[in-house]
Amino acid sequence: MIRERRLAACAVVCFMVGCAGNGEGLDENGRPVGSGGDDEPLTANLQSIQDQVFTPICTQCHTGASAPVGLRLDQDSAFAMLVNAPSTEQPALNRVTPGDPDGSYLIQKLEGTAAVGGQMPLGQPALPEATIAVIRQWIANGAPAASSGPPAVVPMQLHAISSSAGSAILVQADGELNVSTLTVDTVRLIRSGGDGTFDDGNEINVAAHIDVRSLDPTVLAIRAEQNLWVADAYRLTISSQGASAVRDRDGLPVNDFAMQFNIGGSL
Ligand code: HEC
Repeated sequence: MIRERRLAACAVVCFMVGCAGNGEGLDENGRPVGSGGDDEPLTANLQSIQDQVFTPICTQCHTGASAPVGLRLDQDSAFAMLVNAPSTEQPALNRVTPGDPDGSYLIQKLEGTAAVGGQMPLGQPALPEATIAVIRQWIANGAPAASSGPPAVVPMQLHAISSSAGSAILVQADGELNVSTLTVDTVRLIRSGGDGTFDDGNEINVAAHIDVRSLDPTVLAIRAEQNLWVADAYRLTISSQGASAVRDRDGLPVNDFAMQFNIGGSL
């Protein structure tokens, strides 16, 4: 099974990289050292949790291409990787289900009640109860994205968050998209046809399955139909051109977005 093979691969990578677990980012009481100023209290919003927990503590391991179980908790990835995203270890549970802290795998991992693996942060003192209570509160409040201040009047940006064999590519907009504009015409996944090059006429359309993981900001999980990723070079494009452009909810087109990535093989 694809999932099991991926899990094994992740475990090996993590073992080799040896995820540094030296207690950095905690003060003498095991409390997170806030990067957002000494006296700033942790509050139940994602930016505060990011600055005081995820960035200083969790990204010691959970960052980059070899992040354990594919979970990246850096500033640009955390929301899309957590909210309504199925856990790798316990796929029946989401890492974070808005409104349901008890049913969120993240909380089980922080409290040490998860059925699989260790308590987080792995190999370090558990987070103080008060810290976990604040993260619970953020989830109970519906797990909103970090508020980014007043809305900017610029075309919406799309960012790729991750791609790895057998799993979904996450694309996050910086606000709410009009999801009815996400169609097979505007979101296109092709592969090179085996030669690793594009625009030479032998590209193959890949049927893509698009899940909207969250609406505001809009996070899309895009996977090959039935998760069948043939080894090849891939290109994902999201179009802002023409009548069928992807638009935000105010009707403004998003920026053109394109990313290329390789799956398997030696391309
Ligand atoms: C020392 C490295 C390290 C640190 C620091 C660390 N983790 Fe992990 N994390 C891992 C490893 C390795 C796994 C997979 C094995 C396991 O669960 O024990 C994992 C698994 C997880 C999972 C399960 C994800 C899934 O999809 O099943 C969650 C959630 C998680 N970590 C959250 C966190 C959070 C939140 C922090 C910070 C408070 C953190 N981790 C800190 C190494 C780490």
